[in-house]
Parts: sequence; structure tokens; C-alpha cells
Amino acid sequence: MAIPADLLNKMTLEEKIGQLTMASANQAVTGPVAPSDFSNSVREGRVGSLLNLWGREETQRAQRLAVEGSRLGIPLFVGADVIHGFETIHPIPLAEAAAFEPALWEETARDATAESAAAGVHLTFSPMIDIARDPRWGRIAEGAGEDPVVGSAFAAAKVRGFQGKGLAGMGTTAKHFVVYGAAAAGREYAETDVSQRTVAEIYLPPFRAAVEAGTTAIMPAFSTLAGIPMTAHRQLLVGVLREQWGFDGVVISDYNAITELMKHGVAADLADAAMLALRAGVDIDMMGFAYERGLPEALKRGTVTMAEIDAAVMRVLVLKDRLGLFDDPYRNGWTPLPSLAERRATARKAGARSLVLAQNRGDLLPLSPGIKRLAVIGPLADARAEMIGSWSAAGKGDDAVSPLTGLRAALPGVEITHVEGTGIASGEADFATAVAAARAADCVILCVGEAALMSGEAASRTSLDLPGRQGELVEAVSATGKPIIALLFCGRPVTIPSLVEKADALLICWFPGSEAGHAIADVLTGKVNPGGHLPVTWPRDLGQVPITYDARPTGRPKNPAEKYTSKYIDSPNSPQFAFGHGLSYSSFSVSDPRIDAGRTITVEADVTNESDREGTTTLFLFSHDPVASVSRPLLELKQFSSITLGPREKRTVRFELQRSDFAFPDEAMQMAVEPGEIEIHVGLSAARAQLRSGTFKLV
Ligand code: NOJ
Repeated sequence: MAIPADLLNKMTLEEKIGQLTMASANQAVTGPVAPSDFSNSVREGRVGSLLNLWGREETQRAQRLAVEGSRLGIPLFVGADVIHGFETIHPIPLAEAAAFEPALWEETARDATAESAAAGVHLTFSPMIDIARDPRWGRIAEGAGEDPVVGSAFAAAKVRGFQGKGLAGMGTTAKHFVVYGAAAAGREYAETDVSQRTVAEIYLPPFRAAVEAGTTAIMPAFSTLAGIPMTAHRQLLVGVLREQWGFDGVVISDYNAITELMKHGVAADLADAAMLALRAGVDIDMMGFAYERGLPEALKRGTVTMAEIDAAVMRVLVLKDRLGLFDDPYRNGWTPLPSLAERRATARKAGARSLVLAQNRGDLLPLSPGIKRLAVIGPLADARAEMIGSWSAAGKGDDAVSPLTGLRAALPGVEITHVEGTGIASGEADFATAVAAARAADCVILCVGEAALMSGEAASRTSLDLPGRQGELVEAVSATGKPIIALLFCGRPVTIPSLVEKADALLICWFPGSEAGHAIADVLTGKVNPGGHLPVTWPRDLGQVPITYDARPTGRPKNPAEKYTSKYIDSPNSPQFAFGHGLSYSSFSVSDPRIDAGRTITVEADVTNESDREGTTTLFLFSHDPVASVSRPLLELKQFSSITLGPREKRTVRFELQRSDFAFPDEAMQMAVEPGEIEIHVGLSAARAQLRSGTFKLV
């Protein structure tokens, strides 16, 4: 069965607007809504989709109201924020990005889909593919970091993973279109204002990749871009998304965003707000009821046409059809569900792959078998709920493995003492007990960082330092002189110069998900060789923000001997850790690139594992156009490849590039390829000193 013939003609205006209205089935921002509230609306055909609802019985009951209880029997679809797992929680997206492995990104999305499908969820409000270059903005945790090439690969992999072939999985909503990540001063929901060139080069590409991968839906950002709210941005939503890119799916507003057009000061009333959004191609009003209350009046005023409403309704009906709901409205659990053990194993693997070994002085890690007494100290040592991060859907904190539990399971012969020392953000502290435990141990594992909800939506920070009294805890424990392995939990880069100085080893754990403790223990014991790389440049100090690897050259490059050059008088220009930084228990070397510039430009480089241990790393390929009509970034990532090499193994990594990969918006903002010399740089991070370089002539 497809969409029943003539369905649109049978619909009243109220029923049409119902298809354009998504209601929350429970709590969310506006407070609890009793189930009966949405039941009546569904039966009356005034709501066509629900969010914040899951569970086989709950979703089937709601579907019955639509299919059997409403006049036209149009099925509902159910959407939910399945961001990094549904019940089994994977690492937060920023962490998973650190694996630089599209196959893994896809695999975790497939598991999340299987669990969601079993709970009756048809569509996820993800992937979140906002490029984020300001760690004050808490939502940096939800995306793949600062780089558009990584963001695009992440977007495509997630769409493929969640949706499956031929939309056998669940629908996706790529969000938040666009530039949301550039919120002024990192303050959530604040305005954005970046150049047209930056929009084109940095912020749009992941969305284009999601569209090319076939995302079913797009969600506009809450924010304004140069004064125009994205929910009403005709030029980008219609001109670029629909007309240039040919996106024919559904645009779903963010929560209450259409109504908020009034607060933005571009709509006088709900009819105005509804008109602006509909005319910008927004099909579904999430939870604002602006369409329900405003569209009839807009129609009366003649500011929208029935044809525009019909076009939006048809897109929603087509989405429901693509989701198979006209054929089988009760399709719960339609994709095979791997066993719980298999799903946990995937989460453990993903957790371990996401960890970034930032420092390992004296090869303190992996833990030597000589270590008999460990002190596990810090407010995050025995935390479970914190491990799953924000946006953890149906995931339960109680199901997560704390670092302490993971270590105890992995090291049965080691005497482990545990002391909190202080809370994550509290003023209370007991440094004396922590110091005594450190003194009595061979080695300290210091578990510090942020609480899960210090990043994610509505979690902007003005300081990127370790919260509370954790900095003092680091000082006190380090004064014992014991070797320190720091485990850092965070949803963003945090500024930790003193921790970097005091800790012998530093493992950036982010929020690793349900299997956190096991994944961490796998890496600490050497069962898994760490292979994560930073998907964001890590600042030393908030004053350096925004700091990214792809800065443009300056006419006055830093020269310590000359005053009038580009530098700080109180800090180095360089970051704490470069984009792509990440160590391994193996050591790798990279050869000079061999470049063959034919019709396709091929770049080959040999990567050699110089150690006796199998290891995983990522080879990055950057380019630079030294003379162009527009000043080009000193490094631009073009491709990356994650590789696992056996002991002493050498492998040739081959990249293929097209001429169009070197196109950029020229002075007139037209995409252009300018012939001339191009530099190619390959290496295991963006740190200049270790890049190997060559050039070729682009014709
Ligand atoms: C607001 C968030 O911005 C968006 O990402 C999310 O999908 C919706 N709320 C629904 O929960």
C-alpha cells in the first residue's frame, strides 16, 4: 500500500495542519502533559507525529488512536532524540568522532536503530552535525568537532547507519541547519554572524553530505544568522537546501522555534510566524502549535496559500510512506536486534576507540604488572550516570560501568583504594584522605572533569577550567610525587595546563557511554591499544578561543624577536594539543607523500608501525594553496584514513582526490578551482613539526 489515493483531497484544513504538527507525548520544556491531552488531539487528527514517546506498548497505543480512532486513519510517526545510543549508550559524538572511523560511526548507529525500533521509534532527531569551534558552547559535545571534512564523513556515516539500506532502519533529522555552533561568545541560543564564505566552506558541507546520503529530514537551528532566524531563512532552507541541493524530504522545526520567531522580533503574531516558517519550507512545527493557531489566520490574510500547505502535507505523508507506516503502522522492532551482550560489546569497543591518549611520559601506560596498589581518586572515579553524557535517551545511569568498577574487574590481583577527594563542582573537599591514599599506592589514577550535563544543550560555560575544587585536588595529589594517570571526563576541550604538567599520563575519556569503565580498563591495561585522535584543537587557555588548525596566514607571522607580529604577550599561540593529536602504545612513522597529479590526484604515503605491538592510528591528508585570489588556510583537511598495523608492519595509504576537491568560493563567492602549485602535507595530526610534505601543479 502507498499513500491512499485522494487522501489530500479528503482532508479538512484542520487535518492538514494536524499532519504539520508534532506534539510532545510527555514532559519536556513546557512541563508535564497528561497522555489524554495528546490522545484527543491524535483522535481529532490535530497531531500527526509525536516526540518524547517510546516503548512498544506506549507507541502502539498512540498509533491505534491515529489509525483506528481518527477520521482518516492516517498513521503517526514517533520521533526521539537518539543521539549516541538508545538504551545502550555509546560515547558522546565528539568522542566517537575521535575514532576517525566511519565504519564504527555506522555500526553504533545501527545498534541504536535496532534498540529504538524495538521501542517503536521511527525517526531520530540526529545526527547533530553542527561544526563547533567554540568550546564554551556545550553542544560541541553532540557533534564531530571543528572540521567540515570530518563533519561530512560523520554525517554520511550516521545517516547510513541509522537509516540502513532503503530506509530499513529509522529516519534521520540532520540538525541544526545551520551555523548554530557559532553562537556569539559560545552562549547557547545567542545570535550567529559569520561570513558567507565561512558558511559555505565550514558550516554547510556536513549538511550537504547528509542530504547526499539521503537523510529523511532536516531541522533548522534555533539561532539567527546575520539577523535572520534559521527557522525563517528562505534563502538557505529553500534556495540552498531544496533548490540547489534538491532536498525533497521533510523540514522539522526545533522545539517551539516557530513560535519563537515572535521573540526574535521578526513576527508580530502567530499567523506571521507560521507564514514565515511555512514559506521558508518548514513542514513540521515541533511543539509550538504555531501552525495550529497561526496558519488558518495566515490563510485568511492571504499570506500563505493552500498550495503551500498542501506541499508540506504531502512531504509529511511521503515521509510516513517511506517509513512504511501506511503498510504497517504497528511496525515495532522491524530491524533485527542483536543480543544485549553483542550491543554491550559494540559499546565497549566504541568506548575504547574514542579515548585519546594525550600524554604518556616514561611510558607509564599500559599499566605495568609490577603495580600492586592503585589509588583511584577523584569525583568521577565511581560515577556511573555521568559516564553516559547528555542526550542519553532511554539509557540508564545505573546500567553504566564506572571507571572504578571497570578497573576492579580488570585487575583482580591489584589492591585498589578509592577516594573521591572532592565533588565535581562542589566546595567540599577532603584532600587529606586522598593524599594518604596516594601515598600508600604505587600509582594514582586521578578521575577528574565535568559532569555530564555541563555540556549538551543549554550548558554554555564562561570558564573551561576543571570545575569546583578539582584543580586543588590535582595539586594536592601531585605533591605526593606518585606517578599520576589522569582520566579526563568532558564534553568539550577543558583548559588543563596544570594537569598536563602534573600528570605523567593523560587519557581524554570524554563521556564513553554505558561500557565506560570496561573500555577505560581495556586501554589502561593494554588489552586495547589507544587509537583516538582529537577532532578539535585543544586550547591552553580560553583566551585563545576560537583556535582551530585551519587558520589563515597573517601578514605578520609570529616572530618572538619582533614586537609587531601576531602573538599574545602572555601565552604561546600554539594550542595545548593540536587537532588530530593522539598517542598510541605503538610508535608510527610516516614517509614523504608521493603525488601523482593526473586527472585524479593520487597521494600515497607509507605508515610504519615501529613497535612490536599492533596499533591503530589515523593518517591525515592536508593541503595548502600558497597563492590564490583569496587567502587560503595554512592547512585544510582533505581526507583521513584510520589504519591498524601489526607489529613492524608497513602499509601504503592511498588517497584519491579530484580537481573539485580544491575548489573554494572566489571573490565573487563562486566556487572556483585556481590552477597553480598546491602543497600536500601528511601526518598523524595537524602539528606542523611532524608533517611530511610535497607539492604538485593543479591544472
Ligand atoms: C531542542 C534541541 O535543540 C533539538 O536538538 C532536539 O532535537 C529537540 N529539542 C527535541 O528534543
